Amino acid sequence: MYHGKLAVLCLQQDALSEAICLAQRLDVPLYQEINPAFPELFFLTWRDGCLKLLDKALLKKGGLSVDIEPRYGEQHSWPAPKKGVLAQAIGRKTKTVVDATTGWGQDSLHIFRMGYALRCIERSPVMHALLEDGFKRLSNKDWVVQLGLKAPELCFGNACDVLSTLDENPECIYIDPMFPAKRKKSALAKKSMTVLRDLLGDDEDKAQLFAMALKTATKKVIVKCPDYAEPLAGRPDESFKSKLLRYDVYLTR
Ligand SMILES: C[S@@+](CC[C@H](N)C(=O)[O-])C[C@H]1O[C@@H](n2cnc3c(N)ncnc32)[C@H](O)[C@@H]1O
Repeated sequence: MYHGKLAVLCLQQDALSEAICLAQRLDVPLYQEINPAFPELFFLTWRDGCLKLLDKALLKKGGLSVDIEPRYGEQHSWPAPKKGVLAQAIGRKTKTVVDATTGWGQDSLHIFRMGYALRCIERSPVMHALLEDGFKRLSNKDWVVQLGLKAPELCFGNACDVLSTLDENPECIYIDPMFPAKRKKSALAKKSMTVLRDLLGDDEDKAQLFAMALKTATKKVIVKCPDYAEPLAGRPDESFKSKLLRYDVYLTR
């Protein structure tokens, strides 16, 4: 799957057994020192207490990890107030949410911090490994421990399959698939999303995922999309707009 594209880089002896397991699980090479002649473009490594994804320019420092801190402007308490366009789209009365396209977990963590009961699905083995690490760090946060909370449950696999195996259908399913970029390498695109696109490409099966989500959710499906994109499934029942994004809400009937 990642042949010639990805490797695990382990520069700390104490992370070696974890690195061996990860390299085996992803079926990619494991390196224990930096060599500028590496053929791969992306690397997973442990740095600053996190699992990080690096491109070649970041071999010595930096990298991207699942950021578990509240986003700018978000309240640090739990549950944070249900305000903003995402909360409006989910609704105050909704209790259970499944994020079917978890990615870097930023929307998931926002939903979690607002107090919704959340389950997460991710099909990319690399993103799943990064999320596992992020959710583990979240579980160990003082406020999470003190409040007796648990990090969201994380399921690995294609949501089209996983959704049909859930023990209880959620009220709301949230999907944020990768849409084709409007401009080449937009200056506005976040580094984390550019890397995700370079590593995984666009999600070509979004219509299939939407159909499965609509069959499974008991109340609604929310599709997050860029403002320039056509609605994924025709005219939505409601739409909530922010600066460059739209949350299209389809009610299940
Ligand atoms: C645009 S990113 C999501 C970003 C995320 N909302 C965030 O806040 O970081 C899309 C992610 O969904 C995943 N994905 C797309 N289709 C999927 C599917 N059918 N099942 C599971 N994961 C899927 C991709 O692997 C990718 O990691």
